Amino acid sequence: MHAPTTDHTPHSVLAPGQPAVVRTVTGIRDAGTAIRAQGRGVAFVPTMGALHEGHLALVREAARDGSGVIVSVFVNPTQFGPNEDFSRYPRQEARDAALAGSAGAGWIFAPGLEEVYPEGFATTVTVGGPSDGLEGAIRPGHFDGVATVVAKLLLMVRPDRVLFGQKDAQQVAVVRRMMRDLHLDDIGMEVVPTVREADGLAMSSRNAYLGPEDRAAALALSRGLAAARAAAEAGERDGRRIEAAAMAVMEDTPGVAPDYAALVDPDTFRPITTLDGPATLCVAAKVGPARLIDNTPIRPN
Ligand code: PAJ
Repeated sequence: MHAPTTDHTPHSVLAPGQPAVVRTVTGIRDAGTAIRAQGRGVAFVPTMGALHEGHLALVREAARDGSGVIVSVFVNPTQFGPNEDFSRYPRQEARDAALAGSAGAGWIFAPGLEEVYPEGFATTVTVGGPSDGLEGAIRPGHFDGVATVVAKLLLMVRPDRVLFGQKDAQQVAVVRRMMRDLHLDDIGMEVVPTVREADGLAMSSRNAYLGPEDRAAALALSRGLAAARAAAEAGERDGRRIEAAAMAVMEDTPGVAPDYAALVDPDTFRPITTLDGPATLCVAAKVGPARLIDNTPIRPN
């Protein structure tokens, strides 16, 4: 594994696959200027690090058209609640830089806390609409933190494209709304399908918290989604019954404490009573020390 380099090293002298690590807003704007001077677009993948194949799918998709790819690694304190896992969230920057580089990233933007939230910082972006239910209800303030940091990162990096994972479906809806409302939608937003382990578990940095028994129990989320999809395929149109099919699998799995199974409109995140168009079924559950989320599209058959 290569150690990451610093701002001061021109990217052109680095070995391929070894990204430059940039820590300042000025530095990342200079990187954007350098990419565009090569006639390339700037593609941006915001992350909190602890990179896995899900993140790397976003990086590969970002790089596919020859864009210069910037990956941010910033564990954003404002999106964690007081009793959540901010302090124990995995931090492994050198590994992340090497992984992101191998997937096609040229730059890692890893700003310190003071660069993102300088002394006196007093602006918060609050998005209504899709923030209201589900994760927004269970994690008060979470989407304010997400919307604020994503708006700030987009304004720092000023990319042509930004990529997000379908894994966090409500985050996608909130960010899409925020980008429209703040006129950031000249930046192209792309959503990449959820990457899963071979047995169906959605990849997540938080899977690292799972012991062997938790790891087996965690399959209740993707199995619940599969049961709900099967119900819809068999002709079920009642939203509450489709949700119940997923809930039953989670409730019947020892070690799993479900928070919700909810059939919602993919853009507004309002509940869907009768399945007659595009819908997303979202699930969330505590499994041992981790709180996990997953989702699947559900279509009427
Ligand atoms: P993080 O959880 O690190 O995720 C970064 C990006 O990777 C998000 O867009 C997320 O949806 C995507 N992702 C995570 N797991 C995935 C999987 N299994 N398949 C596909 N994509 C996956 O989401 C955040 O960070 C933060 O909220 C952030 C947007 C960076 C703001 O702080």
